[in-house]
Amino acid sequence: MRKKIIAANWKMHKTVHETEKFLRELMSSDMPHEAWIAPPFTSLHAAAQIVSNAKVKIHLGGQNMHAAAQGAFTGEISGSMLKEAGASFCIIGHSERRNLFHENDAEINAKLKSAFHVGLTPIFCVGESAAARDSGDFMDPIELQLSSGLLGIESPHFKNLVLAYEPIWAIGTGKAATPQLAQETHNKIRGYIAAKWGGDIAKSLPILYGGSVNVANAKQLLSEPDIDGLLIGGAALEVQSYLSILRQQQ
Ligand code: PGA
Repeated sequence: MRKKIIAANWKMHKTVHETEKFLRELMSSDMPHEAWIAPPFTSLHAAAQIVSNAKVKIHLGGQNMHAAAQGAFTGEISGSMLKEAGASFCIIGHSERRNLFHENDAEINAKLKSAFHVGLTPIFCVGESAAARDSGDFMDPIELQLSSGLLGIESPHFKNLVLAYEPIWAIGTGKAATPQLAQETHNKIRGYIAAKWGGDIAKSLPILYGGSVNVANAKQLLSEPDIDGLLIGGAALEVQSYLSILRQQQ
C-alpha cells in the first residue's frame, strides 16, 4: 500500500499570523486525513509549535532548500535549518524554481542528496512544458529530469522519496490534466522507474499529481490507480477548500 499524500504548497503566501489562523482552524475541524503543508520559511517554526498537539498528523515542509549544509549563500536555507524549524519534508525541483530561478538538474540532484542526508522527505517535482506535451514527446523531458535528478541516489533512499508529476501547462492555469491524461503519465513514470531502479521501488513510490487541482476535480484524480495523492497550490490556501480535498481522499 502506497502512502496517500494530500500536500499543500503555499508558495509565497501567508504571514506567520495567517499561517497560525489557518492551522488552528484546520485542527479544530474533523480532519479526515493527515495533512502535508509547505508554508513559507518564516512560518515554519510557529507552525511547528501549533501542530505539535494536532490529533491528526500535520507534516510541515519547506518549498526549497540549498544543497550545502551551511556557507556564504546569501538568502538561502539549508535542509538542517528546515528540520530544526520543524519541517519533515521539502519540495524540490518545483517548476517555478526551475523556470523563474534557473535551477538545473544538477542542482536539484544535489538538493535531493542533501535532503536524504539530513532526513527530510523530498517531494521531487517533474513535468513537461506545453510544447513538449503538444509534440507528443512529453516523456523525454520527464525522463531526463528523473534520470539526472535521481543520479547516484542509493536505493534505500527511495523508500523516503515522494514524486510529484506537475505538468507546467497545468500549474496555476486552471487547466488541470484530465484524470486519464494524469493516470497515463503516472503509469509511464512508474514504468520508467521500474525499468531503471526496479519493480519493487516503482511499486512502493508515491506519485502525486499537481497542477490546478481543486475541490471539483480532486476526487476523480484520486480515484486513478497510479495517482497516490495531490500537490495543491491555489486551492490549498483556504482551509475549507483544502479540507474538502482532504475529505475526498478515502
Ligand atoms: P496550483 O499549483 O494548484 O495553483 O496549480 C500547484 C503547484 O504549483 O504545486
